[in-house]
Amino acid sequence: MQYTANEHSSTLRVMLGERSYPIHIGASQRDGLLAALAALKAQKRQVFVVTNPAIREAQAALFDELCQEGVRAYETSCDGEPAKEVGELSHLWETFAREHLDRTSVIVAVGGGVIGDLAGFAAATYLRGVDFIQVPTTLLAMVDSSVGGKTGINLSAGKNLAGAFHQPIAVYADTDLLATLPGREFAAGMAEVIKTALLGDVALLDKLERAGRLHWRHAELPAIIRRCCEIKATIVRDDECETQCEGGRALLNLGHTFGHAIEQVAGYGSYLHGEGVAIGTVLAARLSQALGLLADGDVARIEQLLRANDLPTSLREPLPLNALLRTMSHDKKVLHGKLRFVTLHALGKAATQNVDAPQLIERIWLDGGASR
Ligand SMILES: NC(=O)c1ccc[n+]([C@@H]2O[C@H](COP(=O)([O-])OP(=O)(O)OC[C@H]3O[C@@H](n4cnc5c(N)ncnc54)[C@H](O)[C@@H]3O)[C@@H](O)[C@H]2O)c1
Repeated sequence: MQYTANEHSSTLRVMLGERSYPIHIGASQRDGLLAALAALKAQKRQVFVVTNPAIREAQAALFDELCQEGVRAYETSCDGEPAKEVGELSHLWETFAREHLDRTSVIVAVGGGVIGDLAGFAAATYLRGVDFIQVPTTLLAMVDSSVGGKTGINLSAGKNLAGAFHQPIAVYADTDLLATLPGREFAAGMAEVIKTALLGDVALLDKLERAGRLHWRHAELPAIIRRCCEIKATIVRDDECETQCEGGRALLNLGHTFGHAIEQVAGYGSYLHGEGVAIGTVLAARLSQALGLLADGDVARIEQLLRANDLPTSLREPLPLNALLRTMSHDKKVLHGKLRFVTLHALGKAATQNVDAPQLIERIWLDGGASR
């Protein structure tokens, strides 16, 4: 990892050999982005932006500037998770072909995790792979989905079941773009921030507790985003394609085994991804406590920090236990029929582990608000 910094922003370099790339983080990144796109065009490379209608409207000034640079922009037909589906992907591929994009073209994903995953997968597969740039516009995308090269779409059988590893050539995480992000979405991103601190850095956790409720103009936000990217980049560098049997990239799934089940059983859209992760993180912490790995006071600290950031710590309405258990058993992380969780062994220290204790898991769910 390498840094360069000035008073407004810093650049973190993710070191992955020939797939290394910079992440520019901080306020006022727009000029840098526009200059980079102009440089690509000067090399006769076509630049093609993918976004959605809501982001285009919210960030109209950015898109006006992109158009002035002669950059074409494509909008998905819908907002949110439904855009990450095969019909939307095939439409995007056809559009690339109709627009005569070639192997030197560059796709620019301007959006949250949905646009990044969809446009990234389209870029990974069109002409067997073209370059792409991530311009994350949600906090979740800045700290998580734009870093690490996972791209993909959902299938009717489940989330993110078709995808590819495809690293961007650059990421521009401009905190000014968060000005228009709804508060609930900002809070959902905080769940991933807190998750990252829990699995990798107790000093970051202390900092979050001291900072109180964060917002897009908070002076500490760029440094917090940078630290999250750094932790994720380190994990990705050591396990780029999630092949390690223990630990590695799978640690980033802290809270996700429970969280995905909540999202799916409640119906997508009912809980935001980050809200499912927040509750899932509490349940994973309680599981760790029940296994004798984590102290009671640590679980209380986690819940307090999530609540301070407007995040739920238990189910809003009871969800049926059987459906939650069934959904968990189909999780991608199930290995040889055994449920696999990320557990906390201390604040800032996580591990992957098989847990063969169905009654304990049931109790954790029931305490978290599930119903029989
Ligand atoms: N690839 C990865 O490593 C990875 C990691 C974590 C999550 N994900 C994926 O990310 C997705 C969730 O991403 P998300 O939480 O960013 O959701 P999202 O992309 O759906 O964005 C959330 C909402 O905010 C709106 N929005 C985005 N930026 C805005 C802005 N600046 N101003 C106004 N509105 C804005 C969007 O239109 C949308 O309605 C999921 O599909 C998840 O699977 C991927």
